[in-house]
Amino acid sequence: MSDAKYQTIVEKYKKFVMPTYAPELLLERGEGSWVWDSTGNQYLDFATGISVCNLGHCHPAVTKATQEQAQTLVHVSNLYMNENQAVLAEKLVRHCFDGVAFFANSGAEANEGLIKFARKWGSDKGKSQIITMKDSFHGRTLATLAATGRSKYREGFAPDMPGFSQVPFNDYEALTAAVNDQTAAVMIEPVQGEGGILPADTEYLKKVRALCDEKNILLLFDEVQCGMGRTGYFFAFKGFGVEPDAVSLAKALGNGFPIGAFIVRRKYADTLSVGTHASTFGGTPLACATACAVIDTIHNENILANCVRMGHFFKVELEKMAEKYDFIKSVRCRGLMIGVQLDRNGAELLPSLLKHGMIALSAGEDVLRLMPALNLSEEEAETGLKILEKVFSEIAAQ
Ligand SMILES: Cc1ncc(COP(=O)(O)O)c(C=O)c1O
Repeated sequence: MSDAKYQTIVEKYKKFVMPTYAPELLLERGEGSWVWDSTGNQYLDFATGISVCNLGHCHPAVTKATQEQAQTLVHVSNLYMNENQAVLAEKLVRHCFDGVAFFANSGAEANEGLIKFARKWGSDKGKSQIITMKDSFHGRTLATLAATGRSKYREGFAPDMPGFSQVPFNDYEALTAAVNDQTAAVMIEPVQGEGGILPADTEYLKKVRALCDEKNILLLFDEVQCGMGRTGYFFAFKGFGVEPDAVSLAKALGNGFPIGAFIVRRKYADTLSVGTHASTFGGTPLACATACAVIDTIHNENILANCVRMGHFFKVELEKMAEKYDFIKSVRCRGLMIGVQLDRNGAELLPSLLKHGMIALSAGEDVLRLMPALNLSEEEAETGLKILEKVFSEIAAQ
């Protein structure tokens, strides 16, 4: 693309796109772990659209499923059945726990569903309050913002939706002190993503599960970012051995095609009964065909095993770098959900990484967040580590 065309697009953005983001790079094409910009530069994508393109860009099996379905039936509304929705629900439930699924279009919408589910369940019990975690992130709609522990996202949007309170993550005593007769649910990301790749302590989660059982409180997991194989388990909670009462998914469920979902245990299957919740676009034949292909590909290509293997490789190599560079404070890995904690803001490193050919992310106040495709090859992992080493050595030389 010529510079003149690039400038025209920049101008159109300035004039016609609401400035809630401030992008500079114009991306044109993606294949596997790679993306290309408008000048033909190639980048190793360790952001994957924020843990969305877990199977890499334009995975052929997923693209084929989307294309074929787009020629058959795209949308009918949930006033009619479509086969793909039933098939997808079964596939998800078989990975999760015995239960039922509701389909939405995004993470925030899936979490809105979780919140409505909890309130509806608690409505005849005098329970409406939801306890969430400090530093959590649950979305940008008003209810999910109120649930979100990172208060900076709520600034300017007062009044907060009532019914939410936050306690420090991984602090069991603080949670027990906050629970009361009106508590309907506790909502947790098993691995906090935006907060800085912070995993829950297994013992903590087990105690939270027991507390919820004892006090008749629902345990809700937000797996929008950490689900769909990202941690090496299809659902992150499987890696902790703690089952929630309901769980949300989105992001990588469609590998880039918008789709979200939440699943509740079978004993709560009737809590949201006919007419109590809905979504025009939720669970279209097109979205569900795509998501079915994503799940089949995770099996057919042994994606979870690759994620565990590569995650271990990164952990070992990044820990070596942490020994060498004192500005690296810690390395946190759960599969290919990787956080490199620094003595500075993670975002400071992104321009140099880009210059050396890598797209990455920051998280929390001081974390460089790496979320490569789960099917990246050893060679791609090595290329990524070389780029990281280059950028780290440049910082050390400053
Ligand atoms: C854990 C978690 N929940 C919810 C969301 C919101 O998802 P969406 O942006 O699809 O609404 C995100 C997005 O980053 C997330 O990381």
